[in-house]
Amino acid sequence: MELSYDIGGGDFVNAGRASSAVKGILKQLNISAVLIKRVVIALYEAEVNVAAHASAGKISVSITKDVIRINIRDKGPGIADIELAMQEGYSTASKEVREMGFGAGMGLPNIRKNSDTFNISSTPGEGTELEIINRLSN
Ligand SMILES: Nc1ncnc2c1ncn2[C@@H]1O[C@H](COP(=O)(O)OP(=O)(O)O)[C@@H](O)[C@H]1O
Ligand SMILES: [Mg+2]
Repeated sequence: MELSYDIGGGDFVNAGRASSAVKGILKQLNISAVLIKRVVIALYEAEVNVAAHASAGKISVSITKDVIRINIRDKGPGIADIELAMQEGYSTASKEVREMGFGAGMGLPNIRKNSDTFNISSTPGEGTELEIINRLSN
C-alpha cells in the first residue's frame, strides 16, 4: 500500500494529518499497538519539523507485509550540522513555535528512537530528507 501526503511550512493545523491517517490504516491492518505507536510518534515529529522548520514537504508511506517505510522530504533551509541537530534538547525553533508548545529539541532523537532504521540527509539551502523504516516481522 502506498500513501502520500503534503505538508506546508508553518501549517501546524495540518501537521499530524498524515500520522493520524497512517495510525487508522495500521489499526485496520491489525498491526501491534507498540509498533503503531513507534510509527506514529516518528511520523508526527517529522511532520511537525516540516511545519516548524521548512517551507513545504512531501511524505510517502509504503506498507508491505514486512515493513513500513516512510520518506519525508522538504524544501527549506536544510540542516548544516546534522550531528548537532540530532542532540537531545538542541533546537532553533522560533519564539512563536515555542509558544505553540513545540521546539523542545526532542523531535529528531525521538524519530531515531522509534525507527528500526533511520536515515537523514540534508542540503543546506535546499532541504532535508528523512527515511524511517520499521519492520513488521522479526
Ligand atoms: N526539516 C527540517 N528542516 C530544517 N531544519 C530542521 C528540520 N528538522 C529539524 N531541523 C533542525 O534540527 C533541530 C532539532 O530538531 P528537533 O529535534 O525536531 O527539535 P525541535 O523541532 O523541537 O527544534 C531544529 O531545531 C532545526 O534546527
Ligand atoms: Mg522537532
